[in-house]
Amino acid sequence: MLSLKPTLRSAPLLIGACLTLAGCGPKPDTHPGQPVTRRRAVLQETLRTFEPMGIMVRGKSPYDAARFQSLADKLEALSTQPWTFFPPGSTYSPSRAKPVVWQNPAKFKQAQETYIKAAAHLDAVAKTGKLDLIRPAYLQVSDSCAACHKAFRGPSVL
Ligand code: HEC
Repeated sequence: MLSLKPTLRSAPLLIGACLTLAGCGPKPDTHPGQPVTRRRAVLQETLRTFEPMGIMVRGKSPYDAARFQSLADKLEALSTQPWTFFPPGSTYSPSRAKPVVWQNPAKFKQAQETYIKAAAHLDAVAKTGKLDLIRPAYLQVSDSCAACHKAFRGPSVL
C-alpha cells in the first residue's frame, strides 16, 4: 500500500509532461507533403463519418433522415480525397499500405472508383429517405472499403 503512494502522486505530473512536451504522441511526419499523415487523417475522418450511418442502418440508433443525408454528403466528398496522398514510395511508418498499391496502380485505381461510385450511389439513395433502399447501398460501400483493405492494406504496424 505504502509503495503505491509516490506512483499515484507523480501520475498527474507525467500526464502533464506528455501534453506539454508532446513526447508521448506519434513521431512527427517529416516527409515532404506528409502523405502518410494526410491520407490516414482523411481515412480516419471517413470512418468517423461512415460509422454513425452504419449504426442507423442496423437500427441501433433511430434513423434520422436529415443527419443520414448530411453524413452521406460528407462521405461522398471524402471518397475522392485520400488517393492523391499515395505518391510512389510513401510506405514509411505508420503506413499500412501494401507495396501492391504501387506495383498494381491500375487495380488500386479501380478499387477507388468502385468505392467512389458506391459512395455517390449511397448519397443519391439517402435523399429518398427509404431505409429499404439505403441499406443495400450502405452495404455496397462497406464491401468496397473491405475489398480494398483486403487487397491493399496490411496489418497494423502500431
Ligand atoms: C481504394 C482502396 C481503399 C478504399 C476504397 C478504402 N480504403 Fe481505407 N485504407 C486503404 C489503405 C491502403 C489504407 C492504409 C493507408 C496507410 O496506412 O498508409 C487505409 C487505411 C484506412 C484507415 C486508417 C486506419 C488504419 O490504421 O489503417 C481507416 C480508418 C480506413 N482506411 C477506413 C476506410 C473506410 C471506412 C472506407 C470506406 C468507407 C475505406 N477505408 C475505403 C485503402 C482503402
